[in-house]
Amino acid sequence: MYSSCCTVVVTCLLLFVGSSASRLHRLPGDDENTKMPLQTFRPFNIAHRGSNGELPEETVPAYLRAIKEGADFIETDILASKDGVLICFHDFILNNTTDIAKHKEFADRVKTYEVDGAKTTGFFIFDFTLKELKTLRTKQRFSFRDHQYNGKYPIITFEEYILIAINAPRVVGIYPEIKSPVLMNQHVKWSNGKRFEDVFVETLRKYGYKGSYLSKEWLEQPCFIQSFVPSSLVHIHNQTDLPKIFLIDDVDVRTQDTNQTFAEITSDDYLNYIKEYVVGIGPGKDTIVPVKHKHLQTPTDLVTRAHAHNLQVHPYTFRNENKYLHFNFSQDPYLEYDYWINTMGVDGLFTDFPGSLHRYQKWTS
Ligand SMILES: *[C@@H]1O[C@H](CO)[C@@H](O)[C@H](O)[C@H]1NC(C)=O
Ligand SMILES: *[C@@H]1O[C@H](CO)[C@@H](O)[C@H](O)[C@H]1NC(C)=O
Ligand SMILES: *[C@@H]1O[C@H](CO)[C@@H](O)[C@H](O)[C@H]1NC(C)=O
Ligand SMILES: *[C@@H]1O[C@H](CO)[C@@H](O)[C@H](O)[C@H]1NC(C)=O
Ligand SMILES: *[C@@H]1O[C@H](CO)[C@@H](O)[C@H](O)[C@H]1NC(C)=O
Repeated sequence: MYSSCCTVVVTCLLLFVGSSASRLHRLPGDDENTKMPLQTFRPFNIAHRGSNGELPEETVPAYLRAIKEGADFIETDILASKDGVLICFHDFILNNTTDIAKHKEFADRVKTYEVDGAKTTGFFIFDFTLKELKTLRTKQRFSFRDHQYNGKYPIITFEEYILIAINAPRVVGIYPEIKSPVLMNQHVKWSNGKRFEDVFVETLRKYGYKGSYLSKEWLEQPCFIQSFVPSSLVHIHNQTDLPKIFLIDDVDVRTQDTNQTFAEITSDDYLNYIKEYVVGIGPGKDTIVPVKHKHLQTPTDLVTRAHAHNLQVHPYTFRNENKYLHFNFSQDPYLEYDYWINTMGVDGLFTDFPGSLHRYQKWTS
């Protein structure tokens, strides 16, 4: 059962990748504009790690489900393998979302490294080659979500993820994150002194991603580049004019590179500085509207100030489950979307359930 499932998945993936070649190289006379375009009249539906509320995060099925459910963008985190291949994976350790514990051959790979000032022990992604990572299977992160797909789907590469978007039946954008770049550059080396960020941008360029926000090229292959690390966004500034989003962590977390506080990076002075490099910010929603005992408090002015600097605001993360819904929303995710779209006026939403956001937007616009 286990091995036949794997064979089916691998075969599908090969067919999928194989069939892309003909579509990547369009012939003269082919109409390039037959796909339904990206909608740009309402806030963006950003499928956080795919439809990860339903399927193991950042897998082919999670992304295909998100596309079927109406996501405008499929979102991912990019990390690197030991041999420098960029892959889609959120955590820098493999413990929580793969079956690594079952792989006795890797039992001796447990290591302890210092990450962001704290010692962490686990199976670190950059201690495994792509070939080794491909032998693992993903699993659902949270105990309260559907576990029937555990052990079925492999980790995918950045390139495999890009091909999912390019081969979608309508225009679907990508939204990759330059994840943990400080850690990646410490532990993985690329030829010619290239940095993780350089290889990231090269990959996007290889697949034709270019152009500023809403340009003709961008609308054909929409892409937002996101990062919590301002020096990475500054570094790639002159390598690509693709729009970039500066992610902002919780109020008690400092930036990984510049060691700046939340107060510093959300000040007017800082927004004025960073707007030279990015088209928007991506803060956690509970930092925009603080929460106490699951009740919303008075909203901050962050959205208003960001908009005054001509910056978009794409908050994270929207989740349907009762445990994540603040009491003000009567346990109804649609009321939460209504609040953030119509009262707070945000420009995009990272959701674990892109199908719900799509139905809400379809029924109200
Ligand atoms: C993985 O799970 C452990 C135990 O539940 C938790 O302490 C840790 O924060 C998780 N690690 C990551 C990277 O999510
Ligand atoms: C990951 O798994 C290894 C092996 O069981 C364990 O030593 C380590 O503490 C785990 N790390 C986390 C963060 O759960
Ligand atoms: C970008 O700027 C840096 C210095 O700020 C320079 O070293 C690099 O060559 C520039 N890259 C491009 C593609 O212009
Ligand atoms: C970041 O700044 C704080 C406050 O000055 C300091 O305590 C901390 O050690 C710094 N962290 C790093 C990694 O430099
Ligand atoms: C949320 O509920 C709390 C507690 O009832 C109330 O003080 C607050 O004004 C509510 N916020 C919104 C936006 O409805």
